[in-house]
Amino acid sequence: MVQIRSTLILLTVVLLSYFGKCDQPCNARDLGIEGRSIVCVCNAQYCDTVSREAPASGTFVAYTTSKSGKRFEKSYGSIQTGLPFVKETQSKAQEKVTPYILDNIWGIWTEATLALSAGTRYQTIEGFGGSVTDAAAINWRKLSDAAQSHFIRSYFSSEGLEYNMIRVPIGGADFSTHPYTYNEHPWHDAALSNYTLADEDYFYKLPMIKQSQLVSTDEIKITASTWSPPVWMKTNERITGFAQLRPEYYQAYADYHLKFIEEYSKAEVPIWAITTTNEPINGVVPFVDFNSLGWFPSDLGRWIANNLGPTIRNSRFNNTLILAVDDQRYLLHIYLNGMQRGDPKSIDYIDGIAIHYYGNFAPASLLTNIQNSYPDKILLSTEACEGPMPWDVMRVKVGSWERAQRYTRSIMQDLNNFVVGWIDWNLCLDENGGPNWADNFVDAPILVYGDKDEFIKQPMFYAMGHFSKFIPRGSRRIQVNQRSLFSIDNVAFITPAGNIVMVLHNRNSYDMTVRIATVLIRYIDVTVEAESIMTVEINDAWVSTNTVN
Ligand SMILES: *[C@@H]1O[C@H](CO)[C@@H](O)[C@H](O)[C@H]1NC(C)=O
Ligand SMILES: *[C@@H]1O[C@H](CO)[C@@H](O)[C@H](O)[C@H]1NC(C)=O
Repeated sequence: MVQIRSTLILLTVVLLSYFGKCDQPCNARDLGIEGRSIVCVCNAQYCDTVSREAPASGTFVAYTTSKSGKRFEKSYGSIQTGLPFVKETQSKAQEKVTPYILDNIWGIWTEATLALSAGTRYQTIEGFGGSVTDAAAINWRKLSDAAQSHFIRSYFSSEGLEYNMIRVPIGGADFSTHPYTYNEHPWHDAALSNYTLADEDYFYKLPMIKQSQLVSTDEIKITASTWSPPVWMKTNERITGFAQLRPEYYQAYADYHLKFIEEYSKAEVPIWAITTTNEPINGVVPFVDFNSLGWFPSDLGRWIANNLGPTIRNSRFNNTLILAVDDQRYLLHIYLNGMQRGDPKSIDYIDGIAIHYYGNFAPASLLTNIQNSYPDKILLSTEACEGPMPWDVMRVKVGSWERAQRYTRSIMQDLNNFVVGWIDWNLCLDENGGPNWADNFVDAPILVYGDKDEFIKQPMFYAMGHFSKFIPRGSRRIQVNQRSLFSIDNVAFITPAGNIVMVLHNRNSYDMTVRIATVLIRYIDVTVEAESIMTVEINDAWVSTNTVN
């Protein structure tokens, strides 16, 4: 018996070390530019991978990505028992404890103690992902089959970021090679008798989504958004500029969404949610020069209450979520109040509120206010990218660590303010940040070099992964209490399996020592190095068995 047991243990150790070692490391390329981090190069032959290791009871696994070049580097440790808020002094001989704060002056800055309250639970996570735009799918298709497969596995499989969300434009967006909509001809065709998907759907977007579904570890929930309807539905009869929907086409525009859901469903790509038009402010205050439709808030409310809501709810696709606004943080209150004034039923029809990234100078606490005002609606971040602003001199900034930091900060702030999921913009772009028919080039976590059959993963890719891979759908955010003078950016969850997942972000130029107390007298210590992101997964049976939901 003893022999069998030790054989089993030996086998387990061998298997664990085998799987632990099977990660393919980053094939790092240093750009040699001052201040930049490395990128990881993938092609038909090679691509880096990362497996998630389930920590054994009483232990933790940590993953580090740093400006200095670590990418999901694993480290291990065990839960310790003792009072977490007092520290043993360096000298063991003294055998005494001193209060944390008196430890030493430098320590005050470089040490943080965080106490988890796993019993205090907030929102339930839906997931993380990126967008299958025409531009992303066109770039992906430039790669050989083997490189395409590495790309898809990098984002969606168990050896990659395990994305479980996708956003897809309904028709064209600016990240298309030309502006287009469905049912452009004949004009004034309110019955949408000529509604047909585009070549971009059949040759690019649908194949990319289907490949993702084949390797994903969870159901991929897809959110779809219209940028502009056919121009004959609009007051200015143009793809962009100041324009609203003509009232006689309110119903046609609702049907335009239902038809998209039907067409994608026929292609076996179910749509989980639709938004009520991408960035409705763009057609009211036309800052931008790409596909748009303006909505005044009260008109949007009337359209949802009288057309979109009933059309979706009375259809076969009645469980499709309707997400309102789909625009910047600072516009949420204006739109939701206006919609309610336009028709209070609009609020009943919506399931959630979709939020974009480009107004994040407005405080994230706005999101908590919105959640308090609309407690039965989910908040979902549906678009984010770096480099889109007029003052962004560089649209693409290869290897930028500061862009990965901004992603990390924004995702943490959103999650700490009730957001249930975070969808990045283009899954990939070319080296110029396109194609984009309106010359609105931006950065993306992956850049594709089609002529070399190569793609590179930027630091932003790994920043996304520190959340997407380790916070599975169904995880609940839990309370974190700061127990030290200084702290570190953080967010914590309890997973459906009962593990604690905590993401830590050190923006300082020095290492931080972080003590995480899982419950009163149980804790772990980790060192979060300068300018790095760390995800820690802790298996503390005490937490999972002793905390109530
Ligand atoms: C229907 O749409 C296609 C493009 O998808 C177009 O070529 C054709 O002319 C349209 N039919 C009519 C009757 O307008
Ligand atoms: C939703 O549609 C399904 C059929 O697709 C139907 O069975 C169900 O009753 C509908 N639910 C509601 C609330 O209308």
